[in-house]
Amino acid sequence: MSKKLTIGIFGFGVVGQGLYDIIKTKNLNLEIKKFVIKNADKKRTLPAELFTTDPDAILNDPEINTVVELIDDADAAFEITKRALSSGKNVVSANKKMIATHLEELTEIQQKYGTSLLYEGAVCGSIPIIRNLEEYYDNELLHSVSGIFNGSSNYILSKIFNENQSYAEALKKAQDLGFAETDPILDVGGFDPKFKLTIVASHAYGLFLDPDTILNLGIDKLSDADVRYAKEKNLKIKLIPFAKEINNSEVVLYVLPKFISKDNILYNVENENNGVLVKAAFADEQFFYGKGAGGHPTGSAVLSDITALRYDYRYEYKKHLTEKELKYSTNYELKVYFRYQNDDILDNINFSTISERYYSEDTKYVIGTIELKEIISKRVLINADGNFIAEI
Ligand code: HSE
Repeated sequence: MSKKLTIGIFGFGVVGQGLYDIIKTKNLNLEIKKFVIKNADKKRTLPAELFTTDPDAILNDPEINTVVELIDDADAAFEITKRALSSGKNVVSANKKMIATHLEELTEIQQKYGTSLLYEGAVCGSIPIIRNLEEYYDNELLHSVSGIFNGSSNYILSKIFNENQSYAEALKKAQDLGFAETDPILDVGGFDPKFKLTIVASHAYGLFLDPDTILNLGIDKLSDADVRYAKEKNLKIKLIPFAKEINNSEVVLYVLPKFISKDNILYNVENENNGVLVKAAFADEQFFYGKGAGGHPTGSAVLSDITALRYDYRYEYKKHLTEKELKYSTNYELKVYFRYQNDDILDNINFSTISERYYSEDTKYVIGTIELKEIISKRVLINADGNFIAEI
């Protein structure tokens, strides 16, 4: 018999509304008792008595055994999640920044209080990757996990590459469709996929990492010259988070734009769709595909977590406890395309090798190899206006 869930929800934005739409079509053993929202004056589609601005209406209500946290503010989300888990309530969250930043502490709190925090909706919208990494790949040596983890930037790139739309026009549409974060630099700058990658790496490799130590460069500096270069070579550019085990003892992680050829399965992942490519020792290559953003797709993952709580499901973080100690490493060489504006920049960035140079009046680029740690230490310079880097 599943247990009855009495739910308090923080936030009634795109995902909150999407979740509500799905729940009302089902006959589940659960009741939504309260929504806590920030703005009391906003017109809502549900009866006013369901809404309050007082967090204690949920957190201090002993009848509410399940908290669903769907707000934007990662710091406030962390406080809510900590309080709920410490007072015996299980939590479902879709806040990737909050989870990526505080996962180790949140794991300890769950263990201490015997409560459960689930967050499938935080990573790649509708794609059930966390539970798969946690359960299915429990005994597999994972060579790498990569893919497209951000719907908004993928939507923008699709519109630029397939429909010749401008960057600004495509970004505006991604915002209008509710895919983008409130501050879209989180999407196009690669922060959002980095938070997701941090969570993925945790469940894939048993690592608790500070996302600030992981490289993320995005598509915000993409220019017509880069798109032209890609198209001339029948390539597309995608924003790719990448985690790979090297030397049997280290894991490399980063988020960078990448030129992708037609034979790469990610080539045809378009618009707000996401794809997760898992390479494992025995299963070989597997691919998960689905909508990565939007109220209903993300709401469906949140609902799956809610219903899992009816059976007291929890992540066991087995790999953190039992796996061999893997370490995060930045000793890794990448082949990159680097377009730059000022010539002297090449004196300040240490490429291991340069195999190609292009120099015209309006476009200059090099193709070469460079250490990941060199990109990290020169990231501000590399990402300055007029420059663009992508793996090739
Ligand atoms: N802004 C995110 C994206 C929403 O575009 O993928 C889903 O996490």
